[in-house]
Amino acid sequence: MSPTPSRVELWPLTLADQDEFCSLVRASTELHAPWMQLPTTSGEFQDWMRRFSDGTSLGFLIRVQETGAAAGMVNINSIIRGRYQGASLGYAAFVPSAGRGYMTEGLTVALRHAFNDLRLHRLEANIQPANKASSALVQRLGFRYEGLSPAYLYIDGAWRDHERWSITTPLPWTPDPSLPRV
Ligand SMILES: CC(C)(COP(=O)(O)OP(=O)(O)OC[C@H]1O[C@@H](n2cnc3c(N)ncnc32)[C@H](O)[C@@H]1OP(=O)(O)O)[C@@H](O)C(=O)NCCC(=O)NCCS
Repeated sequence: MSPTPSRVELWPLTLADQDEFCSLVRASTELHAPWMQLPTTSGEFQDWMRRFSDGTSLGFLIRVQETGAAAGMVNINSIIRGRYQGASLGYAAFVPSAGRGYMTEGLTVALRHAFNDLRLHRLEANIQPANKASSALVQRLGFRYEGLSPAYLYIDGAWRDHERWSITTPLPWTPDPSLPRV
């Protein structure tokens, strides 16, 4: 069965996206606080982009195909191979495109890329219990709740408890060659 057509596509984030990215983040301060801190200045953006330099984390803009507008961002972070073959997702919508289903579609494309092209087996999303928009988003995508991780990530000046949500690859799946055979 062919996948449902999507209104969005993923664009790898590059240094050339700096001004657009920072101004969208500045416009989205109220939406992102207190859940997510993203770069708003040239220096912060360049520091942030270093995380993508060794291939263990990948950053994308979610662009609306019809207009080219960046509706949000998604990172496939901390890719671990070997017997794990997993990564964790980071994501945020940008005002004024939030609440229109673009993030649901963008993360659907990100899941497909992670499972079919990167051949990952597992994706996690770690979400603070009060972040209802984020847990609603991953539930729409079929993630399952696995449990509470106390003091899991340092966010907004403190170690915050997070709910761990995950999804594993649909079958049939072709493993990455780095997966041990037995
Ligand atoms: C979490 C976050 C990314 C969710 O973004 P979002 O804009 O709600 O997600 P979507 O674009 O998929 O929009 C979903 C909403 O659009 C509505 N919608 C409208 N048209 C739609 C369509 N064609 N398809 C699907 N949903 C549609 C849905 O009903 C839903 O609204 P609801 O929440 O009132 O039910 C956003 O709230 C955000 O950026 N939060 C701050 C950063 C953050 O928390 N990141 C995650 C840290 S763990």
